[in-house]
Amino acid sequence: MTKMDWGMKNRLSRIISPKTGHTVMLAVDHGYFLGPTTGLEQPWKTIKPILPHADCLMLTRGVLRNSVPPEIDKPIILRVSGGASIVGPELLHEGIATSIEDAIRLNAAAVAFSIMVGAPYERDTILGLTQVVDECQRYGIPVLAVTAVGKEMKRDARYLALATRIAAEFGASVVKTYYCENFEKVVDGSPVPVVIAGGKKIPEKDALEMAYNAIEAGAIGVDMGRNIFQSENPVAMIKAVREIVHNGANAKEAFELYNSLKSK
Ligand code: R5P
Repeated sequence: MTKMDWGMKNRLSRIISPKTGHTVMLAVDHGYFLGPTTGLEQPWKTIKPILPHADCLMLTRGVLRNSVPPEIDKPIILRVSGGASIVGPELLHEGIATSIEDAIRLNAAAVAFSIMVGAPYERDTILGLTQVVDECQRYGIPVLAVTAVGKEMKRDARYLALATRIAAEFGASVVKTYYCENFEKVVDGSPVPVVIAGGKKIPEKDALEMAYNAIEAGAIGVDMGRNIFQSENPVAMIKAVREIVHNGANAKEAFELYNSLKSK
């Protein structure tokens, strides 16, 4: 096993709690291909009340520089892939969209890069990941690989385990993927920690169940966006997610907490 550099370890310990080995990442990077996503029209207004309950914040440099005060003490996971949009012809054709030099300038604790396994441009995206990993290794910066899924790909354990493993094979420090049935297969096939994205907004009870099931299956946490910031009560929701991720609550207990916080 290669000895991990001190800087790399230190940055990882900023995004993954050394106390619990788990993490609640708050994802607000959606605008990079979706535009002003519901709930993120005025990013800081949404982020500010939720941020104290997140372990780190995942976003693009544009929103970071323009909407987030530099005085915050939360580690940043900077999205560095992009180049396609929801209305364009090649949604899954992303490349390196932000330099590692800029990630360092922004004091990023980690960077995030999407790979599109099974999509027509998978090669470009996987080689993009390797380039970002090489550059980040030079400076001790962990890479969170995101296994984005095209409309035509089935989000089952076979596919997600494949995509997750490929991301890890090429040097990702953490892999973000989607939850699916038999999620143990995805986690067990990955030599690095796995977190789940929340995906489209679903009822709070269901989102908490998904988070619980993912943790039970071995995920180290969530990198969740819409199911938190589009919730009827985002602060109550992130607190409930934290109870699952860091404090061992089950889905029922977390949902009860959500309801009690919501009613206050
Ligand atoms: C998608 O690739 C983006 O990175 C989002 O940050 C990610 O999907 C997580 O957000 P959500 O929980 O809303 O799916």
